[in-house]
Parts: sequence; C-alpha cells; structure tokens
Amino acid sequence: MTSGPFSTPDPMILPSILSADFSRLAEDCRDILAAGGDFLHVDVMDGHLVPNISFSAPVFKWLRKAFPDVFLDVHLMIDEPVRYAPDMVKAGANNVTFHVEAPEVKNDVAAAAKAIAKLGCHVGITLKPGTPIESVFPALPFVDLVLIMSVEPGFGGQSFMHDQLEKVRTLRPMMKANQRIEIDGGIDEQTIGFARQAGVDWFVTGNAVFTAKDRRATIAALKQAIGS
Ligand code: DX5
Ligand code: ZN
Repeated sequence: MTSGPFSTPDPMILPSILSADFSRLAEDCRDILAAGGDFLHVDVMDGHLVPNISFSAPVFKWLRKAFPDVFLDVHLMIDEPVRYAPDMVKAGANNVTFHVEAPEVKNDVAAAAKAIAKLGCHVGITLKPGTPIESVFPALPFVDLVLIMSVEPGFGGQSFMHDQLEKVRTLRPMMKANQRIEIDGGIDEQTIGFARQAGVDWFVTGNAVFTAKDRRATIAALKQAIGS
C-alpha cells in the first residue's frame, strides 16, 4: 500500500509518546507536533514480548480523535500482533509494525505481514538487537517499512547501539522506492547523523525530544543533523 507519507523519501522525525506526560497526553503531543515532530510513534507493550507493559488502543484512540490527520505509527511489542492488529487499525493506526520474535508470527512472518496489510493499514516488521536481519527477509515484499531497534525494546531513555547500523547497511540496497527504513532507540543529536549516513529514513525519538528544555530547537537540530 503506497500513499501519504510513503510517497515521499523525505526523512521524518517521529516523537515516541512513551516519553510523553500521560496526564496531559493530547496537549503534550500537540506541543511536540508544533515543535516539528512529523508523525507520532506509539509503543504498545504486553509484558510478554518485552519486559514492560505500556498502553494500547483504548489510550491512543483519543489521539486519533484529537489529531485526525496525524500519521500514527504503532509499534507492537506483543506476542500476538495479528490477533490485535484489527483493534489497532480501528483505533486509528496508520502503520502497524510487528516483531519477528512474536510467538504468533515467527513461523511465517510473510503471512503475518500479508494478514495485517489486508486490514488496509501500512505494515512494518521489526526485530530485537540480537535477532539476525535475515529473519525479516521473507516478509520484505509485503511490508512498507523495516524498523531497526537500536536498543532492547521495552523502555525509553537507553543508549544507542551503534552495531545495529550494520543491519541498516545490509537492508538499504534491498529496499524498494516506496519502502522505508526506520530506527528506534537512543536517537538524539549525537546519534542521528550516524543513522542517516547508514541509510535510515524515519527516526523515532522519545527522551531526547520530550525531555528537551527547548523542543523546537532540539527537533530543528535533529533535522539539521540529517540535512532536512
Ligand atoms: C523502546 C521503544 C521506543 C522508545 C524510544 O522499546 O520502542 O520507541 O520510546 O525512546 P528513546 O528515544 O528515549 O530511546
Ligand atoms: Zn518504538
């Protein structure tokens, strides 16, 4: 499925709402978008696939109501992404990304990608730092993006794992014009340039932007570092 943001190769900054103030979620998201965030990255965790529990569709459906036109990029860190993908799309997800390690999908990642794409959303595939990049290859013809995790998924505010950029370099020549490479974890003014050089298109960033004293200046600096 190619439309909207996938029709432009421009780099994008995706603030991760995991680092937002949930007592005033919409207000905080409005602020981060006004400061230059392009899309919102939404981390759904079930406490099984990753050692943390976050939130799910009943929470982010309110963001869809508050921001009808914002692209919601939903990162499912859950054991059963295909089972729950319809709820995500109903709540307003534009893209649904699943982990190759999820027990429900790991025997056939291509089938999982096809099942999610049938819902009418974009579909992404991702993998933990210790998982070889080859594990996403069977699904490549059926996904819109590949998300490279540059921290162990589960928590914001961790340090960037430079060795994961090797996966980006491997993938880059394999991607079609309408497919994107996204990176998630430890992206800040120091690390974003390395990720861009390796071939990343979309940059998730939580702590660096939500805790910034001057969010506008921080996002501008991130964009400057990647030449956008
Ligand atoms: C980690 C999440 C990330 C996280 C990134 O499991 O997938 O999206 O919010 O946060 P930072 O940018 O703080 O590493
Ligand atoms: Zn994420």
